[in-house]
Amino acid sequence: MTPDSSTLIRSLRRKRSSSEDEYAKPFFKWAGGKSQLLHEFDSRFPEALKTGVLDRYVEPFIGGGAVFFFVMQMFPFRESVICDANEELVLTYQVIRQDVDALISLLRDYQSRYDALDETGRKDLYLSVRAALNADRKGFDFSSYGPSWIERAAKLLFLNKTCFNGLFRVNSSGEFNVPFGKYRNPGIVIEFNLRLVSELLKSTTILHGDFSRCLEYVDNRTFVYLDPPYRPLNNSSSFTSYSRDGFSDQDQVRLKEFVDSVSSIGASVMLSNSDPRNEDPTDHFFDDLYQQYRIERVMAKRVINSNAEKRGAISEIIVMNYSE
Ligand SMILES: C[S@@+](CC[C@H](N)C(=O)[O-])C[C@H]1O[C@@H](n2cnc3c(N)ncnc32)[C@H](O)[C@@H]1O
Repeated sequence: MTPDSSTLIRSLRRKRSSSEDEYAKPFFKWAGGKSQLLHEFDSRFPEALKTGVLDRYVEPFIGGGAVFFFVMQMFPFRESVICDANEELVLTYQVIRQDVDALISLLRDYQSRYDALDETGRKDLYLSVRAALNADRKGFDFSSYGPSWIERAAKLLFLNKTCFNGLFRVNSSGEFNVPFGKYRNPGIVIEFNLRLVSELLKSTTILHGDFSRCLEYVDNRTFVYLDPPYRPLNNSSSFTSYSRDGFSDQDQVRLKEFVDSVSSIGASVMLSNSDPRNEDPTDHFFDDLYQQYRIERVMAKRVINSNAEKRGAISEIIVMNYSE
C-alpha cells in the first residue's frame, strides 16, 4: 500500500518537525495522477528545495496536481506557476482560486439533489448535467473569466465525482463522454479541501496552453516538474488522448528540447513518464532521448486500464538534470 498524499505529508512533516496538520490535496480525479509515486519523488527531489535555494515551482502539465499540492506544502516556495492544455481543467483551477464560496454553494446544491434521488434519478441528473455541459461548450468563452465559469466548474466537479472511474475523457469535438458511475456516496462537495486549495492557489500563476508557455517563468532558482501525457504502452492504449491535444513522439522530442532550455538557464528539472520497455523491452525511446540526463526506474500500479489482465505493476521512468 502506498500512502495517500496527506498521510505522506503528515508523516514527513512530523519528521521534519512542523506543527501544521491540514493539507490541501487534489480536488479532481485525473488520469495519470501521481499520488502513488510521491514517496519515490520525495527521495529524489533536489536538496536545494529544502533549503529554499530553489524558490520558484513550475509545473507545465498540472493535471490533478498531486505533485504540486505536495511540494507546495512541503517546501518553502515563494512563487508557483501551473499550466495545462486542457481548458476545462484550467477553468476549474481559476474558479477555485477566485470564487470558492459561490462554487461550494452550487456544489452543495448538486449534493442535496443527488442525495434525494434513487439510482435512476441520479443517473438522469448525471446525464442532464453532462448534456448541459456539452451543449454550453459551443460558443463558451474560455478566454474571459465570468459567472458562467463558476457554473461550468460546478458541473465539471459534479461529473468528475459521479462519473465512471472518475475519469475525465472527451471525444474529438471536446465533448465529455464518460458514463455514469453509480457511487453510493460520491462526496460531491468537500468544502474544507476546496477552501485550502483556494488559499494555496492565491499565490499561483495559472496558465492555459502548451507547456512551452512556461519557459518565460523559469530562472536559475526554479524547480520544474514535468508529467507529460504517457507515451502509449501498446497500440491499443489510448490513454494519451485524455486531452484533445494528443501528445505525439514529436511532442516528446519538443519537450526534451524544453528540458535542455531550462537546464541551460540553470533550473532543476524532474520528469516522469511511463516506461515503454514495460511492453517492449527493445524500446529505448526515453533512454535515447534523455541519454545525457540521470534516468531512474521505479515501480507503479497501472491504475487505469480497461483490460483487467493489464492492471499489474509497471515501471515508470524518472529523469533528472541534477545529481543529488
Ligand atoms: C499525465 S497528466 C498529468 C497528471 C498530473 N501529474 C497528476 O498528478 O494528476 C498530463 C497532462 O498534460 C496535459 N497536456 C497534454 N498536452 C499538453 C501540452 N502540449 N501542454 C501542456 N499540457 C498538456 C493534459 O491535459 C494532462 O492534464
